[in-house]
Amino acid sequence: MSLTHADTAYAAVRDAHHPYTEADLGHTELTPTYRIDLRPTHTPDVFYQANPVPDWGELSWKQIGRPYRVERWSNEKKQWEREHDEEMPVKTSWEMFNRSFQRLFDSDVIAARKAALGKIAPALGHLHLHDAWEAMEETIQWMVWNKIQRIQDAVWDPRGKRALFEGLDVKKPEILFLGAADGYEAMQLMAMYPGGHAVLVDYDDYCRTNRFGEFPASYPFLGTNPASGAAKVWYRDQMDIDFEVCDIRDLKYGKEFDLVVSIGLLEHFPDQYKPLALDMHRRFLKPGGYAIITTPRLQLQSKLFYTLFADIMNFAYRELMDVKHLGLYAYENGFDILSHGRIKAHNGLVARVR
Ligand SMILES: C[S@@+](CC[C@H](N)C(=O)[O-])C[C@H]1O[C@@H](n2cnc3c(N)ncnc32)[C@H](O)[C@@H]1O
Repeated sequence: MSLTHADTAYAAVRDAHHPYTEADLGHTELTPTYRIDLRPTHTPDVFYQANPVPDWGELSWKQIGRPYRVERWSNEKKQWEREHDEEMPVKTSWEMFNRSFQRLFDSDVIAARKAALGKIAPALGHLHLHDAWEAMEETIQWMVWNKIQRIQDAVWDPRGKRALFEGLDVKKPEILFLGAADGYEAMQLMAMYPGGHAVLVDYDDYCRTNRFGEFPASYPFLGTNPASGAAKVWYRDQMDIDFEVCDIRDLKYGKEFDLVVSIGLLEHFPDQYKPLALDMHRRFLKPGGYAIITTPRLQLQSKLFYTLFADIMNFAYRELMDVKHLGLYAYENGFDILSHGRIKAHNGLVARVR
C-alpha cells in the first residue's frame, strides 16, 4: 500500500511530537539541553550495590557517622537575608532554587559556554580582573553542567532510575510524588508501569507552570508495553498526571497510593524533622505499597559540585549522605528496606512500611 500525501503529512506531525519509537531502542543522542537515552538498563554503571547492608537492625549511627552539611550559601540568599534582616523562609528559598536551577536545564549548554568564554579575553584586555574571574567561573560551570547533564546524564539518569524502579509488584499504580519539581521520575515510573495515575505535589507554583509544565513534550521515556510486556517508548502527553500546588504537610489523602516517591527531598530536613518527612512517605501508602526515596550522594564530586554551583543551588538546608545513612533513616522510621544502592549522583532505596 502506498502512502497518500495526507498520510505522509500526518506522520511528519506525529514525529515532531513523538520523534522516537521502539525502532530506536539502544539509541542515545545529545540535544543542546539534554541527552536522549534509549539504551537498555543493564549496563555496569546504572545501579551499584556496593557493600549491601545485610541487616539494618545491626547498623548504628556510631558506625557510620552523620551526613555532611553543605554550608556554602548562594550570594542571592545572603543578600536577601541582609536586606530583610532575617533568615530566608524555607519556601522562598525553594522558589529561588527552582528558578535558578531550571535556568540550567533551559540553556543551550554549548552556546552558553561559548558566550561565557568569549567574555574572558575582553575583560582581561581592559584589566577588569573581577569580570574576567566571573567569566572564567561561569565558563567552568557550563563545562561541568555539560558533563553532568548532557555527557553523563547524571541528573535525570534514566538508566539508573529504571534500574532502581524495576521489579515492583504494581499494575496501573497510583503514584504520589512529594516535592515533584519537574516531575521526571513520576513520568519514568508511568512509562514502566503504564495505565496508572500520578499526583505531583510541590508548593512552588513555578514547578507546575514551568519545571513540569514546560518539560520537553518530545522527551522519550523507555518503559513497557502493557499488552505484550515488550519495551515501549512513552511521552508525557500519554500519561495521566495531576499537579497539586500544596505543602506536603497539608495533604489530605487517605491510604490510596501504590507508590510514594521523593527525589532529593529528605536531605533538606534536619534530623529533628526527618521522622515527619518519612511519615509523609508512609501516611498515604496503601498496605503493601512502596516508598521510593533518593538523596544526593556523599562523594567528592558532589562536594565540588555544590561548591562550584553554590550561587545557583544553595538556598536551602542540604545534606549529602551515603546510602547507609539514607537506609538507616528509613529503617529507624518504620520502613523495611527492600533494595538500596547508588545511581549516578544519588543514593536510592525502595522500602515498605514494616
Ligand atoms: C531539591 S527539589 C527536588 C529535586 C528535583 N529533582 C529537582 O530537579 O530540582 C525539592 C522540591 O521540593 C519542593 N518542596 C520542598 N519542601 C516542600 C514542601 N514542604 N511541600 C511541597 N513541596 C516542597 C521544592 O519546591 C522543590 O521543588
